Amino acid sequence: MSLKLGLVGCGGMGMRHAHGYIEFRKHFDSFDLAAVCDRHEAAADGVASAVEAETGHRPEIFTDYETMLASGIDAVDIVTDTRMHHIFALQAFEAGVHVLTEKPMAVTMRACRLMRDAAEAKGLVLSIGEQYRRDPMNRLAKALLDAGAIGDPGFAMKVSLGGGSALMHDTGWRALKSRAGSVIIEQGVHEADLLIYFLGDIESLSARTGLFAPTRVREGMHGQIAQFYSHRVEDAFADQQTVEIDQEDTAISVLNFASGAIGQLTITNASIGYGTGINTIHGSAGTMQMPPTRTGIPPKIHLESSREPLSEQEMLDLVPDWSIDDVTAAFFGGVNRMASYDVGFEAIDRILVAIEMAELATAIESKDRNVEVDAEVGMKALAVSYGILESGHAGQQVSLSDIMDGTVAEYQAEIDREAGI
Ligand SMILES: NC(=O)c1ccc[n+]([C@@H]2O[C@H](COP(=O)([O-])OP(=O)(O)OC[C@H]3O[C@@H](n4cnc5c(N)ncnc54)[C@H](O)[C@@H]3O)[C@@H](O)[C@H]2O)c1
Repeated sequence: MSLKLGLVGCGGMGMRHAHGYIEFRKHFDSFDLAAVCDRHEAAADGVASAVEAETGHRPEIFTDYETMLASGIDAVDIVTDTRMHHIFALQAFEAGVHVLTEKPMAVTMRACRLMRDAAEAKGLVLSIGEQYRRDPMNRLAKALLDAGAIGDPGFAMKVSLGGGSALMHDTGWRALKSRAGSVIIEQGVHEADLLIYFLGDIESLSARTGLFAPTRVREGMHGQIAQFYSHRVEDAFADQQTVEIDQEDTAISVLNFASGAIGQLTITNASIGYGTGINTIHGSAGTMQMPPTRTGIPPKIHLESSREPLSEQEMLDLVPDWSIDDVTAAFFGGVNRMASYDVGFEAIDRILVAIEMAELATAIESKDRNVEVDAEVGMKALAVSYGILESGHAGQQVSLSDIMDGTVAEYQAEIDREAGI
């Protein structure tokens, strides 16, 4: 019999999770999306209708989370704005319900610790929806790094210049420190998780941060995720054409890895009129250009400046024992070794969420509660992002263990106070 899944938060990412579920059901039946919840009935209806159109089954609609929890679900998928993640997770654990929550794990490190401890105390699964590392091209990049394809990694450059004067995703809550933490966290946890996935733990960092584009204009949604946001109902600054954001939009940081490697992580959402990125890892024998997630484009390995990067076959030859896991392979027609793919953004976006759902169901059914991005992994990524904000705030280097355990938390204090934790 299928486990019953409930989804709370039927906005843009909620719709993408609905598509993930639709993809999941093509290959697995261990979950039945029994219920969807949003405080705006129209948003929940949009998601329920999308699921019904493709699976023939309409999830029950709720506008009150506690009522959905009491309806008999086994697990909940939390896709609300970040402020609600820990509140809804703690309520779920109290009700004996397993949790998958979108990244960032929670609005502060303290909120994360409450979630981690409650899941542990109740013996329930807590999985964080950090999907980038699950992309087969990131799996290949990791295998190549571990196989020494570029020698010993010495330094990493991750520079992401974007945003500008537009309000991120045209969502009012992202303007508020109390609901989002910072736009640095929104983008930053993905980058931090990948850096840790590729190069191991980060021990300390120092950063400068700032707010350079405080006035943001509602320009609507653009690009490949716009379609997922058309049904959502805006309730924060809904009648304002411009919105003032109250947190840092830019961070330039230096990372110290436990391995001895160093890295630069620069993120801005305030680059007006221009966007670009650098994403490389440099080793003793060569350089890897990291794959742009969800494109199917492989990593590029440069060993000598005079030569073309390694071919796809040359890369696969370097990792003869590497293969993607069976669940991921199921979504690629059973193919478990590949050095590129060509399925389009929408398809890979669905697949990565579907993999998270499949893993959650297995962790519940097998009772081993093992998930790849568990509380510890989710917290490490958030600790890098908050480490950057805390370091920028304090004007000094911070250690990641101090961020993890709350010894350094001044930047987050007002968010915790507002959240009452
Ligand atoms: N993994 C990724 O690539 C990715 C991408 C985008 C967003 N996200 C994350 O997903 C989450 C949601 O982001 P989004 O862009 O979908 O935001 P959104 O504003 O589009 O959706 C959030 C939804 O939650 C609902 N909601 C808020 N409080 C609620 C409550 N108390 N009860 C019921 N419903 C409530 C809102 O009405 C809204 O429909 C955020 O944590 C964000 O960081 C992750």
